[in-house]
Amino acid sequence: MIDVLSKSNRDTAITIRRILKVNHAGEFGAIRIYGAQILIAGRLFPDIVKTLEDMRDDEIDHCRLFREAMPERGAKPCRVMSLWSLGGYVLGFLTALCGRNMVWICTEAVESAVHRHLQDQLAFLDNRDPDLHALIASIQEQELAHLREAENNQKSQGLSRALLLPVIGALTDMMIWLSTWGDSSCMRSEMARDKTAKSVKPTNAI
Ligand SMILES: [Fe+2]
Ligand SMILES: [Fe+2]
Repeated sequence: MIDVLSKSNRDTAITIRRILKVNHAGEFGAIRIYGAQILIAGRLFPDIVKTLEDMRDDEIDHCRLFREAMPERGAKPCRVMSLWSLGGYVLGFLTALCGRNMVWICTEAVESAVHRHLQDQLAFLDNRDPDLHALIASIQEQELAHLREAENNQKSQGLSRALLLPVIGALTDMMIWLSTWGDSSCMRSEMARDKTAKSVKPTNAI
């Protein structure tokens, strides 16, 4: 029984380290996306620069908070931050070149993917790491505000949006997977196992 418990604690600790690693890398990528978009928007549509800068400031804060939460949980940043740096910058640069509407479509796609990941993590962390749960819940509120901002700023929601949302969403998921060398897949399957266990538990208890 002790062995089972210690294995389960060990698995939880590993998943928590993976969550921090994925989130820190993701925030870094978001900073780079907004950075490239700010650069292009400054030249082509300066009226949205302030909004983009405010959102980038939030991402800088999130990145710092996840980094600060790492040492006490034995987590380390992912080894290929340069991948996120380049991938984020290219995505931000290309979408901004396609116009302001594309900036908001890109933001909507990325923030939706982030929101999905955070939602899974909150379900897993509930009762396991209350401090990290509270941190992610507060960050999720700001990510949702970014998502709403992106949705509200879109002048049209036509075919380009329908085509690009899944593509950019999949690219974001792929970047997360690549940047953590598959850790995000392990993490998701651990969280899925956890969900299944939770849904089975009440029946066994009866
Ligand atoms: Fe963020
Ligand atoms: Fe965000």
